[in-house]
Amino acid sequence: MPTIQHHQPPYSVGYFVGSLATNSINRMLSQALIRLAPVELEFTEIPIRDLPLYSYDFDADYPPEGRALKQSIESVDAVLFVTPEYNRSIPGGLKNAIDWASRPWGENSFSGKPSAVIGGSIGAIGTAVAQQNLRSVLSFCNSPQMNAPEAYIQITDGLITDDGDVTNEGTAEFLRDYMNTFLQFITRVLTVVPQPRSSDT
Ligand SMILES: Cc1cc2nc3c(=O)[nH]c(=O)nc-3n(C[C@H](O)[C@H](O)[C@H](O)COP(=O)(O)O)c2cc1C
Repeated sequence: MPTIQHHQPPYSVGYFVGSLATNSINRMLSQALIRLAPVELEFTEIPIRDLPLYSYDFDADYPPEGRALKQSIESVDAVLFVTPEYNRSIPGGLKNAIDWASRPWGENSFSGKPSAVIGGSIGAIGTAVAQQNLRSVLSFCNSPQMNAPEAYIQITDGLITDDGDVTNEGTAEFLRDYMNTFLQFITRVLTVVPQPRSSDT
């Protein structure tokens, strides 16, 4: 019988950046979100760069990168996905990480873990199609998702500074509200859905 955690803030949030690019605009967006988030949320990046390509051949003996990924997810209260759209879907690197975390069968690290999805694009559609794809994947992985607000961010030159400041006050206010709503969502999920301690999983 797992021990039930007492879900008081602060809450730990593991965040995924879907892009591996050095100058990723989604990495910039992730830093802006962290700056605008309420103090009750504490952030750690969950890296995906060094994962091999997943195959179920690994299920019998996960490599250290796969085990570390699962442990990172299981040790946080919630996960946040900040992703670009590549060819109307999520980047392969991010899908690979989700596949790793979802297995071995019966040991899906996302099950019951509250999540939120956001993304930035240079285009006007602002990752809407990729996010719908990602939501479908997370539904299958049994992750309770924040449904609203949706956040499709068109990242124009200068919108986010190198320090992670958002220069447009309307956008900053929208992102601040997004992160405040995420805190409320995490609180609701962790209040009603008992979570096992990571040491029990
Ligand atoms: C392989 C590839 C596919 C892309 N496909 C899309 C797309 O489907 N929709 C879109 O809005 N932008 C697309 N873009 C443009 C991205 O929005 C842009 O490269 C952005 O910088 C990606 O985010 P990142 O810098 O965080 O990687 C694509 C870019 C690449 C490299």
